[in-house]
Amino acid sequence: MDSKITKADDEVQKLISKKRLKSVEDRRVASEIFDKITLESLYKLANQNYLDILNGAISTGKEANVLKGIKNDDSPVAVKIYRISTSDFKKMNYYIAGDPRFNLRTKNKRQIIYAWVNKEFRNLKRLYEENLSVPKPITTLNNILILEYIVDRQGNPSPTVKVKPPKDVDSFFEKLLNEMSKFVNKGKLIHGDLSNFNILNQEETPVIIDVSQSVVTDHPLAEELLKRDINTIAKEYKKLGVNTSSEEISNFINFKNN
Ligand SMILES: Nc1ncnc2c1ncn2[C@@H]1O[C@H](COP(=O)(O)OP(=O)(O)OP(=O)(O)O)[C@@H](O)[C@H]1O
Ligand SMILES: [Mg+2]
Repeated sequence: MDSKITKADDEVQKLISKKRLKSVEDRRVASEIFDKITLESLYKLANQNYLDILNGAISTGKEANVLKGIKNDDSPVAVKIYRISTSDFKKMNYYIAGDPRFNLRTKNKRQIIYAWVNKEFRNLKRLYEENLSVPKPITTLNNILILEYIVDRQGNPSPTVKVKPPKDVDSFFEKLLNEMSKFVNKGKLIHGDLSNFNILNQEETPVIIDVSQSVVTDHPLAEELLKRDINTIAKEYKKLGVNTSSEEISNFINFKNN
């Protein structure tokens, strides 16, 4: 057997084994992520040199797990794996339906999740190409997305703003406003779930993540989602001490849907 596959397999086995994942909750999550097709997809990615070792959980979210992967040149990557069993495919279908980039004629849960992950990859690519402060997308396969691992100077994953609010919040907020404006006006996308849970604080610079639900600006949900994002950000940053309002943010972004 190819050594890479063995290596990835060993790591996955380690991850699933009681030794690495002590709590019952963790074991349950591991068995939920690593179903047969997901394992096969991981082997395929390992064979294509996108991944050598899967190291451990960075985060366990509602629908996805983010793990740290190591490539064969020792560089780290973030590996986001959507769990087939706990994904809200009805919500996914609802967001995908109005997106002209996708013509999804299936009710198959797995196919809908794959389209969702593909949408996150394409959104990220579009934003990255417009020079936004987002992780670089590397590749995607089925329910797996590989992206740049956002780290601090010590190599630790950058925390979300929720976990680590910026020291100079006014200057951080100013950078964030610029990113929000670029997101809409250059990326032509609305984030749709923008909050300090989805903004990393990388050494005092905002990095926007989690763009699976982001919609194109001519999507029927666009205006409503933008309004919600703006309100959330206004509320969160006022709480952090910034003198701002939804109106100010909205004027700054100056989004016109036509
Ligand atoms: N590229 C990255 N680099 C470093 N850490 C990351 C990266 N992407 C995600 N993370 C970490 O993983 C967490 C979860 O990621 P993300 O927000 O993309 O997924 P999620 O909220 O679990 O997904 P969903 O809500 O779509 O199920 C983040 O809060 C962050 O701590
Ligand atoms: Mg998130």
